[in-house]
Amino acid sequence: MQHLVLATLAAALLATALPAAAQFQRPEQAVKYRQSAMSLQSSHMGRLFAMTRGSVPFEAKAAAENIEIIATLNKLQFSAFVEGSDKVGNTRSLPEIWAEKDKWTAAVAKSQDDVGKLLLAGRSGNLEQIKTAAGAVGQSCDSCHDTFRRK
Ligand code: HEC
Repeated sequence: MQHLVLATLAAALLATALPAAAQFQRPEQAVKYRQSAMSLQSSHMGRLFAMTRGSVPFEAKAAAENIEIIATLNKLQFSAFVEGSDKVGNTRSLPEIWAEKDKWTAAVAKSQDDVGKLLLAGRSGNLEQIKTAAGAVGQSCDSCHDTFRRK
């Protein structure tokens, strides 16, 4: 009984001590996680762009839903660039992510800032605002890929 209590307590302490970034048992899982989040984000950006470019009719509610998903994924993905996951599996992440931490942190912050503005635009329901904000997000995606992703 006492063992069980101690074990539970230890597990609880461990769980609170671990940051989100340490929640991968193997680096391969971190690679898969970030690739999945990026891939889904791309798919929802595609749906959003279809509306801002007019190839499908604009619907404020659908746009906002896509944007909320993009924002959530964007928040999740950067926790998966853990140390030791630069040469794992089929990763296209370049070592500069870890070697040039400041530059990487700035690129992440830029993306999060742009996505934050898109989130506000989505909540406003205003097509022109969404168009501008989505364009900026697209650019921060591309600019980070140009610098930190293997061709
Ligand atoms: C701060 C840098 C950064 C930003 C911002 C960023 N990405 Fe990425 N992205 C990466 C890196 C690095 C990889 C390579 C991941 C890997 O293979 O380990 C990647 C991979 C991808 C992939 C390929 C996923 C796969 O299945 O291999 C897609 C698609 C993608 N990103 C879409 C996006 C979209 C859309 C956005 C913007 C909404 C975005 N990314 C923003 C750095 C970024």
